[in-house]
Amino acid sequence: MEQFSNKHRQLLAILSDGSCYSGTTLGEKLDVSRTAIWKYISQIDKLGLKIKRIPHKGYQLSSPLILLDERLIRQKLAHTQFKKSVNFYLYASLGSTSRFLKALPLSSDLEICCAEGQTQGKGRYGRNWFSPFGENIYFSGRWLLNCCFSQLSGLSLVVGLGVLSALKSHQISNEIKLKWPNDLLWKDQKLAGILIDVLGETNGYTQVIIGLGLNVNTATQQFNILDRPWCSLFDITGDHLDRNGILASLIYFIDKFLQQFSESGFKGFMKFWREVDYLQNKWITVSQPSGNLHGFANGVNALGQLCITDSGGIKHYLSIGDASLSA
Ligand code: BTN
Repeated sequence: MEQFSNKHRQLLAILSDGSCYSGTTLGEKLDVSRTAIWKYISQIDKLGLKIKRIPHKGYQLSSPLILLDERLIRQKLAHTQFKKSVNFYLYASLGSTSRFLKALPLSSDLEICCAEGQTQGKGRYGRNWFSPFGENIYFSGRWLLNCCFSQLSGLSLVVGLGVLSALKSHQISNEIKLKWPNDLLWKDQKLAGILIDVLGETNGYTQVIIGLGLNVNTATQQFNILDRPWCSLFDITGDHLDRNGILASLIYFIDKFLQQFSESGFKGFMKFWREVDYLQNKWITVSQPSGNLHGFANGVNALGQLCITDSGGIKHYLSIGDASLSA
C-alpha cells in the first residue's frame, strides 16, 4: 500500500490519542464492519506501524502518531509568507523519496516528496537509510537553481545550515553541529543526513534533488542496528514532535538559503558554518576514492571545500569525502 485511503487515515486519527478501542467501536465510528477494521489494521501493520491487540479490549497504538498531512504543512508554510508554487507527494510507503522525484517529469515548480516509511531509503556511498514508519522525516525536494553545475560547490553545506535554522525556529539547536559535507550531529551521534543528486543543467539552471533523512521521534536507544551511533530529536528534547511543522520550516529555510546560494555562492554562509563546524580544529581522517587522508581540520574555504593540513604541513582542499575524527 503506497497511499492511505480516507478510512485508514480516519482509523489512525482515532487511535492517535493512544487509547484502546474495540473493533466494534472503531467499526461504528468509521461506518464499516469489524472485519473491515481488522483488514485495515493488518494493512497498516504491514507498513511496520506497531498496533497492539489487547485481548477482549481492542487495538492500541504502541507510541503516539501524527501522520504527515499536506493541509497542515501548507497551512504552516503559509505562515512563513512562502510564495512559491509547491506540489506535494505524500506517501504511506515508498522505495525512496529521492528516487520518486527523479522519475517525475521536469517542471519549474518546487516538487516535494515525503513518505511515512521507505523500503529502500538510500544514503551516501550506497548505504541504506533506516526509515521506520511514521517516526521520522524522509524528505526530498526538487529545486531548479539559478546557477550552473560548476557553481554548486558548497551546496550540501548550505542545505545543512538550512536544516539547522529550521530546527532553531522550533527552539531545537542545543549542541547540534554540522559535519562536513552533509551530516548533522548531536553529541557525536548522527541526527540527520543529506543526499544531493544533480539531475542536469540547461541554460544556466540546474535541477537538483535534495534528500534529507532527519530522525525525529525514534527512541534510538531501543535499536541497535546501525554501525554508527545515531540519535533523534526525541532523544534531544524528550518530546514527540509533530513532523508537519518541522517540514514546513525545512522547506522555508532550505528554499531561502538556496536562493541566497544561487545569487552569491557559499561565501556569505562562512561565518554561520564556522559557528557550527564539528570538525574544526580536530584531527580527522577523510576517506576518498583515491584513499584516506589524515590531518588537522582548518575549516572550509569560500567554495565550501574542507581545508585539512597533513602531518607534513601541506594543506589540502577537498570537495568530496567521508570525514571522521581520528582515534
Ligand atoms: C546520508 O547521510 O548518507 C544521507 C541520507 C539521506 C537519506 C534521505 S531519506 C529521504 C531521501 N530518500 C532517500 O532514499 N534518501 C534520502
